Parts: sequence; C-alpha cells; structure tokens
Amino acid sequence: MIELKHASKKYQQGGREVHALRDVSLNIRKGEFLSVMGPSGSGKSTLLNLIGGLDQPTSGEIFIDGRPLHGISDDELTLIRRRRVGFIFQFFNLLPILSAVENVSLPILLEGTPFSEIRPKAVALLEQMGLGERVEHRPEQLSGGEMQRVAICRALISNPAVLLADEPTGNLDSHTSEEIFLLLKSLNEQGQTIVMVTHDPKAAAYGTRIITLKDGALSEDISIGGK
Ligand SMILES: Nc1ncnc2c1ncn2[C@@H]1O[C@H](COP(=O)(O)OP(=O)(O)O)[C@@H](O)[C@H]1O
Ligand SMILES: [Mg+2]
Repeated sequence: MIELKHASKKYQQGGREVHALRDVSLNIRKGEFLSVMGPSGSGKSTLLNLIGGLDQPTSGEIFIDGRPLHGISDDELTLIRRRRVGFIFQFFNLLPILSAVENVSLPILLEGTPFSEIRPKAVALLEQMGLGERVEHRPEQLSGGEMQRVAICRALISNPAVLLADEPTGNLDSHTSEEIFLLLKSLNEQGQTIVMVTHDPKAAAYGTRIITLKDGALSEDISIGGK
C-alpha cells in the first residue's frame, strides 16, 4: 500500500550535508501496524514525513496506493496529504481557540464543506474515543490524554489510508500512554493501517511489525503476532 524504493533524503545543515535517510526500500501493507524505532537523529521523523507527503525525497521513489508521492506538484501533494494520510504528533497541535468538535472537523472545513455537514461524524468519532462529554471543550479544558484522543479523531475524520504517529505519547505519563497505545491497537484491529515512530521498545511492541533505523538506513525488520 505504501512503497518506498531506494528513498534517500539529504539536508543542508550550515554548509554541511546531513544524510537523514539512506537508500530505504520498504513495503508497508494494508492493515499493518508498523513501529519505527531507532535512536534520536536516526531518521525516524524524516521517514514519516516522506510517507505523509510533508517532505519529498532527494532521490528514490515513494508510492501510496500505487500513486507516486515524488516528483508531483505541491498542490497534488497537499491533496494527498489531506485525504490519504492522518497525522498525530507529540504535542497534539490542536488549535486552542477551537472546541474539540471544531478541531476534529477542521481538515474537512478547510476543504470547504459546511460545519453542519461534518459535525455529526466528528461527534460520532469523539464518542467512539470516549469523549462524548468533551465535545464542546477547548484544549485547555482537557487532559493530555484527552487532547491526544481529539487529535486522533482529527486524523481519522477523512478516513485516511494510513494513520501516521510521531512519538504520540512523548508528552504523556506512562498510564495515559498505555491508553493511547491500546486505542491505536484497537483501531488497527478494526483495519486501520498505522505507522508509529517511537524510541520505546515497549511502545513498539504494540505494532505488528517493527523496523529499526540506524544512521538513516534500515537495519532491522521484524514481524510480530499473527499478521
Ligand atoms: N529540516 C531539517 N533540516 C536539516 N536537517 C534536518 C532536518 N530534519 C532533520 N534533519 C537532520 O536529519 C537527521 C535525522 O533527523 P530525524 O528524522 O528528525 O531523526 P529522528 O526523528 O530519528 O530523531 C538528523 O541529523 C537531523 O538533524
Ligand atoms: Mg523525530
């Protein structure tokens, strides 16, 4: 479903060239829950950003459902990013002045669909995540775990082909983190393809497959469980 062929990414850092990703070839199948591990600076976020169309490879190819993500226009990339991928981040990235249901609806609002049309689906997602009582709350009125669940709803509102999570519990205590991992696991069991970056082996174990990056290169690839 997502295919990387010899993908590399180089950054310029103050006149110096940093090889963030080196010749990574990887096939992510539909229904997988892929954990991406590796030390800080090993290229995990770079890999996720390339898969999500937030950035483009310096060389190599990336396909989502057979459609290329490389060498396309910024407009095309924006559309794929909005419709095919959902992102969640360590710091939630919710808009403070919007309520939970407005934050969840935002990606679709940006497409020009009226709020009245999206609202029922946004509320249903929030209810599914146990936030039925928090629909009109603003982020500052929510706990960290609740904010991340709102962010997960926002990522899911456009039925993305893949949910991308970059250290999604990096800002949460261990108990709340476990709740978020269990939620992601249950979404995966319902069929959602997930790619999650983490440096925590215990977190990675919620996945169905674990890859490890070392200095930007793929160093390990292990399947776990029955999938
Ligand atoms: N936008 C950028 N500009 C310059 N260098 C970058 C940029 N993003 C990442 N890098 C560099 O690329 C390498 C990999 O970074 P990253 O993918 O963020 O690693 P990780 O998420 O595993 O910590 C690091 O050396 C980092 O400094
Ligand atoms: Mg990172």
